[in-house]
Amino acid sequence: MHDIDLHRLRQDTPGSAEVVHLNNAGSSLPPRIVVDTVVAYLEEEARVGGYELADRRADDLAAVYRTVAGVIGAHEDEIALVDSATRAWDMAFYSLRFEPGDRILTTSTEYAANFIAYLQVAERSGARIEVVPDTPSGEIDVDALEAMIDDKVKLISINHVPTNSGLVNPAVAVGDVAKRADVTYLLDACQSVGQMPIDVDEIGCDLLSATSRKFLRGPRGVGFLYVRDTMIEDLDPMSLDLQSATWVAADRYEIRRDAKRFETWESSPALRLGLGAACDYATTVGLGAIWERVASLATILRGGLANLPGVTVHDKGRVMGGIVTFTVAGHSAGEVKAALLAQKINVSTTTAASALIDMSQRGLDEIVRASVHYFNTEEELAKAIGVVARL
Ligand SMILES: Cc1ncc(COP(=O)(O)O)c(C=O)c1O
Repeated sequence: MHDIDLHRLRQDTPGSAEVVHLNNAGSSLPPRIVVDTVVAYLEEEARVGGYELADRRADDLAAVYRTVAGVIGAHEDEIALVDSATRAWDMAFYSLRFEPGDRILTTSTEYAANFIAYLQVAERSGARIEVVPDTPSGEIDVDALEAMIDDKVKLISINHVPTNSGLVNPAVAVGDVAKRADVTYLLDACQSVGQMPIDVDEIGCDLLSATSRKFLRGPRGVGFLYVRDTMIEDLDPMSLDLQSATWVAADRYEIRRDAKRFETWESSPALRLGLGAACDYATTVGLGAIWERVASLATILRGGLANLPGVTVHDKGRVMGGIVTFTVAGHSAGEVKAALLAQKINVSTTTAASALIDMSQRGLDEIVRASVHYFNTEEELAKAIGVVARL
C-alpha cells in the first residue's frame, strides 16, 4: 500500500478547488508547478527573446529528455518531443515500410486516428489490417495473436488503454509474442503513461507514443515518442527538416542518429519544460501510488454508477484503470455531461467514431466518459454519482 498525501496534492492543484475534474483522460488539471513553469518561461521569453532564452535554458531543455525517459524506463536519446500523441504515433508508423500482402495486427479498441492511418497506408501499400480477436473479458487475446503470426506480419500495433474504456491491454504479454516473432511492436500509451508504472524494457515495445496533457498532467500541445535505440537508424522519418537532419553538401543530408530525427525544429520550450515538470511531479508522487489510487477510485465510481437504476457501466477488462464509461437510459451522453457540468463536474463523451470497431461491436453510439485521477476524492465521486442518480 502506497501513501498519498491527498491534502497536499490538492493544494498543489489549483483547479481542484474550482471543479470536480473527472476528465483526466481528456486533459487533466495540471499541478501548480507545471503552470508556473510554463508561465514563467513565457514571461521571460517576452522579456529577453525567444532564441536568446532557449540558448540560456539549453541545459534545462536538454534535461526534459532525461526526465521524460525516466517515466518510461528509456534512455534520453530514445525520446523525441513532438506536439501530440498522434504526431508521435504518426512519426513512428509512417516511417515503417509495407509491401503488398504485409500484415498489420491490431486491436478492436484501436483509436480512430491510428486506424485512419492504417487504412491510408493499406490503400497506398497493399498491406492488410487485421484485428486480433478479444478475450471474453475484452482485452486483446494474446493466444489468438500468437496463432496469427507468420512471416507476413510486419507490425503489431495496439493501444495500452483505449480511449473509450477502463480496459488495460496486456502490453507485456503482447511484447513477449512480438519478441519471439521478431516483429516490430508499436504501443499507443497515450492513456496509460502517467496513470500507471510503465517500463519499455519490461513491455518489450519498440515504439511508444504518449501525450503530456492526460494522466501525466502536463500542458496541452506537447507529446513524445519513444524509439528503441536499436531501431532508430532503421527508420526513415516521414518528413525531415533541419532539426531531424543536417544539410552537409549541396546534394546530401545526414539524418540524426537519435530519436530527435522524428522532431521538427520549431517547438515550444515553455511546453516542453512544463512536460518535464509534470514528469518530475508524477515521479515524486510515485507511479505505483498513482496507479493504486486511480484503480481504486475508478472501482468506487463504477460500483456507485452500476447500482443506479437505468445506468449501464460499459467498462471491460481483467485489469481496469481510471476510465469509467456509462450510459443512462432516456438521456443522451451530451445531456448527462451537461447535467454534471452544471454542478461543476467535468466529464467527456465519446462517440462511436473514436473507436469504431469496438463501439459498433458493442452496439454503442456514444458513452459518457468519467476519468478519475489520484487527486480526486471519494466525496467528489459521491457528488457525481448523486447528480446522475437525480437525472
Ligand atoms: C488511446 C488514444 N490514443 C491516442 C490519442 C491521441 O492523442 P492526441 O490527441 O494527443 O493526439 C488519444 C486521445 O484521446 C487516445 O485516447
